[in-house]
Amino acid sequence: MIKTIGVLTSGGDAPGMNAAVRAVVRSALKKGMTVYGVKRGYCGLIEDDLEQMDELSVAGIIKQGGTMLYTARSAEFRTEEGVLRAKEICESHGLEGLVVIGGDGSFRGAADLSAHGIPCVGLPGTIDNDIACTEYTIGYDTAMNTAMELMDKLSDTSQSHYRCSVVEVMGRGAGFIAVNTGIASGALEIITKEMPYDLDKIAKKMLEYKARGKQNFIIVVAESVGHADEIAKLIQEKTGIETRSTILGHVQRGGSPTVRDRVVATEMGYYAVELLEQGIGNRVVGMQGGKIVDFDIQEALSMSKPYDERLHHIAEDIAF
Ligand code: F6P
Repeated sequence: MIKTIGVLTSGGDAPGMNAAVRAVVRSALKKGMTVYGVKRGYCGLIEDDLEQMDELSVAGIIKQGGTMLYTARSAEFRTEEGVLRAKEICESHGLEGLVVIGGDGSFRGAADLSAHGIPCVGLPGTIDNDIACTEYTIGYDTAMNTAMELMDKLSDTSQSHYRCSVVEVMGRGAGFIAVNTGIASGALEIITKEMPYDLDKIAKKMLEYKARGKQNFIIVVAESVGHADEIAKLIQEKTGIETRSTILGHVQRGGSPTVRDRVVATEMGYYAVELLEQGIGNRVVGMQGGKIVDFDIQEALSMSKPYDERLHHIAEDIAF
């Protein structure tokens, strides 16, 4: 019987992380476990920054963005000494399991710690949805809705001025946020690194559509392509249409989580504790076909996630 577990959030924060922490804490307490919240990810673990949690510690956090446990990226934890130090701290608090909420980098750490005898379960928490073993990551829906709302606002002003708006959205190396928010905001073009693009062709299309009465244009650029300013400059040069660039940036990571993020985070947090209760570690929780499942961490890290080319083509086909 596992008596004591910890929970931490690591890497970039994501809306819904708090909902996951809440589910871990409450379900572990229900099972009679003692739960520690580790502050600032692996940094806090190495520095022994832990706090015992009770039901009230997580009251009211389900609706809050960010993470109440704070988060960080720890360079020290990537070293053998760092992992050994973390193991020592876990043992000093009697932690027999740890839930790690974060992305691939955080899961590598969870695998290391599991290999050193502290069973860890990873929960996919990142706005990028770039974790291969799961079709959904906590924070993705909220971030996309935030980006979409901001693009709607940009569309209002670019419409008033007959302008083109080049908008860069987050996603680290992946174009998942870009393609979905591009469709949702009615973008003329979605530029991601997964698909070829040609600025001359885009400019030609814009001029053709302008001649047919179109007044404003939105072009979504994925962070992995970047250079939104440069793209905007080139578009303006090639079309003569006044063009502005906007990098949405970190605002996409904040805000109160959507229903989807709160519910998925809760399901995943609950599931993680069920795994640890059975003494199962070195796993990543994911969603496949809408069901919550789990994978060996190494297996999860070796998987790849295809870009939705079909969605990209649909967006292209119906754009005007
Ligand atoms: O992984 C989430 C994310 O927001 C990415 O989309 C982005 O590339 C990165 O984190 C930014 O990281 P930081 O907050 O360290 O600037």
